[in-house]
Amino acid sequence: MGQVAKSGEIIRVLIRRGDHSENGLKHYQVPALESQTVLDVVTWIQRNLEPDLSYRFACRVGMCGSCAMTVNGKPRWTCRSHVSTVLQDDTITIEPLRNMPVIKDLACDLSEFFTKWTRAKGHFSPTKTREDPMQIILPGDKARREASAGIECINCGVCYAACDVVEKYPKYLGPAALNRAWTLVNDIRDGGNRERIKAISSEGGCLSCHSQQGCTKFCPNTLNPTRSIAGLKRTAAIASLKGEI
Ligand code: SF4
Ligand code: SF4
Ligand code: FES
Repeated sequence: MGQVAKSGEIIRVLIRRGDHSENGLKHYQVPALESQTVLDVVTWIQRNLEPDLSYRFACRVGMCGSCAMTVNGKPRWTCRSHVSTVLQDDTITIEPLRNMPVIKDLACDLSEFFTKWTRAKGHFSPTKTREDPMQIILPGDKARREASAGIECINCGVCYAACDVVEKYPKYLGPAALNRAWTLVNDIRDGGNRERIKAISSEGGCLSCHSQQGCTKFCPNTLNPTRSIAGLKRTAAIASLKGEI
């Protein structure tokens, strides 16, 4: 837990800006405001001090997943992270997410992150047409509950940035893509599981996860990718024993 900056006080902000001084960190002073978020701080700097500061956001309400950055060493969604929860010694250090190439300042290239969703077969493969009657899946259905548990992912990349295996082994699909695969494995309307289970069992798949829950600890939507990946490991083992993959 951080400390509370009172309205009118000054917050010291360090932002990693590529080749600027002090290991790429540039210093700013930002007036503290009531209910101020880390995204508000970055926006204030861009509007008042550094018009060429690059960063991303869209919704500002925790829906789009585009505003994630590293804040005082931890991956966070900045639009829902209040300054009061992260401030340390009147200072906030803001850097781009780990495990992704930086395009400029705080804006990362997410191409590889989303390519891995494709490699994990994270797309829905329909088994019915619009002419078929609507599939009924009761709320208490076990598979539906499993799928629902992971469905609220906003693709923010926070878990991916938190994952040490992604850092050490860049081929690893990572927690977000695997969590998505698990929601589809449990979607009884989907017909792509044979290919999907092959994909998540191959090199860089779910077996590379060490289950230490870094992803789960930081997911801002309180999802549990570690649990999803454990489900994939069980599913892959069963498929292998049955000779299906
Ligand atoms: S539990 Fe698995 S996916 Fe999550 S951070 Fe650890 S290695 Fe990465
Ligand atoms: S699982 Fe959580 S942390 Fe990972 S991308 Fe989805 S919402 Fe973000
Ligand atoms: S700006 Fe959309 S989640 Fe933060």
